[in-house]
Amino acid sequence: MARGSPSGRGQEQHGYEQAEQAAAYICSRSFAPRVAITLGSGLDEVVGRLQEQVRIPYKQIPYFPGTTVQGHGGTLHLGHWKNLPVAILEGRVHCYEGHAPSSVVFPVRVLALAGAQTFIFTCAAGGIAPQSRAGGFMVFSDHLHLQGVNPLVGVHDPRWGAQFVDLTEAYDPGLRRVAWNAARKLCVPCFEGVYASLLGPTYETPAEIRALKGMGADAVGMSTVPEVMAARQLKRRVLAIATISNRAAGLAGKPLSHEEVLIAGRTASRYLADLLDEILPRLGKEK
Ligand code: HPA
Repeated sequence: MARGSPSGRGQEQHGYEQAEQAAAYICSRSFAPRVAITLGSGLDEVVGRLQEQVRIPYKQIPYFPGTTVQGHGGTLHLGHWKNLPVAILEGRVHCYEGHAPSSVVFPVRVLALAGAQTFIFTCAAGGIAPQSRAGGFMVFSDHLHLQGVNPLVGVHDPRWGAQFVDLTEAYDPGLRRVAWNAARKLCVPCFEGVYASLLGPTYETPAEIRALKGMGADAVGMSTVPEVMAARQLKRRVLAIATISNRAAGLAGKPLSHEEVLIAGRTASRYLADLLDEILPRLGKEK
């Protein structure tokens, strides 16, 4: 059985050794991925673009946390996309489900250990910026982390990287350019902006949205940022794209619902797949 954290402070459920075991299991079932894509709510049509797929339910992967939210499938897909070995996490876990922050970022750490160098995170978000329209996309330029819990809290294990991680350019400028050019080429409505990550699971109040706007947020959601922090600690390159599923609370004149988010996600899914079709062949060649 795996030993505990380097400090000897008991056994961690989602520590480095567990991640190594999970990564070894994944590589034994298929191949080492170079790119990892995490899909947000309702965005699962994207997996149809993978060729020669191997599907692994999360529950078969050692220590992988299980998803509980409708629209978050819980399957790891491995396959080739434009000749690149790609892993797609169909479904993510969130802190609002009661998972520890270290569990939320575990799949990212596992795929990094399995070989992924570039992470593309996708999510659904409520639009705050005036140019945000339901059905459009936002490429993250930066974030506001407002979940109140940080996945790097705890006894530091240097095998994950630095304890104090620089997030000045969390979102890779070269990858942002590639995504932006892809959206322009495909005439997909897209803008760059700041994503505010809240704990949830309640949607925000109109007063909170006004406050977030004042803080510089262009879109709001309940995910992604913890995973970005873990990927940046490991010095992986990060691109994050939100599908705007609704105007944020108080901006649309109607209540919000998860059904609306899922329906918008399904519609956006095909455009997201087209965007990724353009983006993937340019990875590593964008500078
Ligand atoms: N708020 C928070 N999370 C979301 C929203 C929202 O309006 N839409 C989709 N995910």
